[in-house]
Amino acid sequence: MRNIVMLTATAALAITLSGCNKKANEGGPPAGGAIEEPAMGAAADKLMEAARAVFKPIPLNPPKLEGNEATPEKLALGRMLYFDPRLSASHAISCASCHSIGLGGADNESTSIGHRWQHGGRNAPTVFNAAYNIAQFWDGRAKDLFEQAGGPMVNPVEMASPQDHIVEQLKSLPAYNDYFAKAFPGGGDPVTRENVQKAIAVFEATLTTPNAPFDKYLRGDNTALGSQQKAGLQLFMDKGCTTCHNGVNMGGGMYAKFGVQSSPGAKLLPPGDLGRFAVTKDEADRYSYKVPTLRNIALTAPYFHTGGVWDLNEAITIMGKAQLGADLTPDETAKIAAFLASLTGDTPQVTIPALPASTARTTRPQN
Ligand code: HEC
Ligand code: HEC
Repeated sequence: MRNIVMLTATAALAITLSGCNKKANEGGPPAGGAIEEPAMGAAADKLMEAARAVFKPIPLNPPKLEGNEATPEKLALGRMLYFDPRLSASHAISCASCHSIGLGGADNESTSIGHRWQHGGRNAPTVFNAAYNIAQFWDGRAKDLFEQAGGPMVNPVEMASPQDHIVEQLKSLPAYNDYFAKAFPGGGDPVTRENVQKAIAVFEATLTTPNAPFDKYLRGDNTALGSQQKAGLQLFMDKGCTTCHNGVNMGGGMYAKFGVQSSPGAKLLPPGDLGRFAVTKDEADRYSYKVPTLRNIALTAPYFHTGGVWDLNEAITIMGKAQLGADLTPDETAKIAAFLASLTGDTPQVTIPALPASTARTTRPQN
């Protein structure tokens, strides 16, 4: 009992957002509790009005997941599972290996390093603000965070756990039984794959990054962006980047072909990766991908589903040409890059959890 009380308090303190989220930091309601949204200030000029019509600030409160309530116990459990490398066959790889909280929710690798140093086929997208995406993965093959969380643990080039290993492993770490029982009360065996996914999803939904300079601007602070950034915002809208990168996540809301106007070439669009087509088998979806979020883009190089481009300016130039048929000048590109840098918000403040101790019964790593 004492344990769980402490856990609850830590969860409330640890999984809060920094910055103006003062109430939660003062020990008020845990993440998910209501922080009052500031009123949108009066629009100062046309640019701000135009921006407000296509973009929305990241809400100060993380989103709620339907049918999966964010209790403090579930959040704390989800955070442990996110950081626990013993959910992988090697006991060396956790969700946090490829989605590091300190690296913008990604790994700064072209393609991630997984089980036995294998590289997967695609760049790891950020988990920050992923709850706001219409679906998960570059091709949208998982409909939400719950469904997504089932993938990596058993993916042979990621965490490589055999299907039955995960539950068996958790049961061999006795302290988890108690944490699962508290997170999923109501009888029955709470240590299930489904509950693992539910807890991870609840934790992930708290990984939002509000209070970026651009959010402050959208809320009416005209001084939050510099003149170069405002010029970049204007270009971003005038050139038509907003056709695809819009809404809260400045992306994440639709699918689009990579190469609408001209192909970016086989290095960035390897013919073997068919994108959304693999999911829908619809010819129109060949080489289509989920439009990625541009939130925190300055932190998450390298870019594109191949991770083939390290320089944000180069990525912007390629986008202009491939998606819009526009040859952006270096000056235009620099202005857009300055604007995109205003999309870096508060990093979620996450305390690395102490994990249940291994025992003599704990299954051994398989390499
Ligand atoms: C070995 C590296 C690796 C590990 C470990 C890993 N991921 Fe990922 N993650 C990736 C890659 C690569 C993708 C993109 C794959 C694709 O789109 O086909 C991805 C995609 C995602 C996405 C989708 C984001 C979006 O915008 O589409 C989420 C959410 C996510 N991972 C969460 C997790 C969670 C939770 C875990 C732990 C259970 C985890 N990942 C473990 C590499 C990893
Ligand atoms: C027709 C839709 C569309 C338009 C218009 C568009 N993009 Fe994109 N953007 C995408 C898609 C799809 C991707 C993912 C490409 C891939 O790797 O498969 C992407 C990727 C990006 C990335 C890399 C993101 C990451 O995490 O790897 C950046 C940066 C970017 N776009 C910026 C821009 C800018 C700046 C413009 C305007 C000059 C623009 N985009 C116009 C659809 C679009």
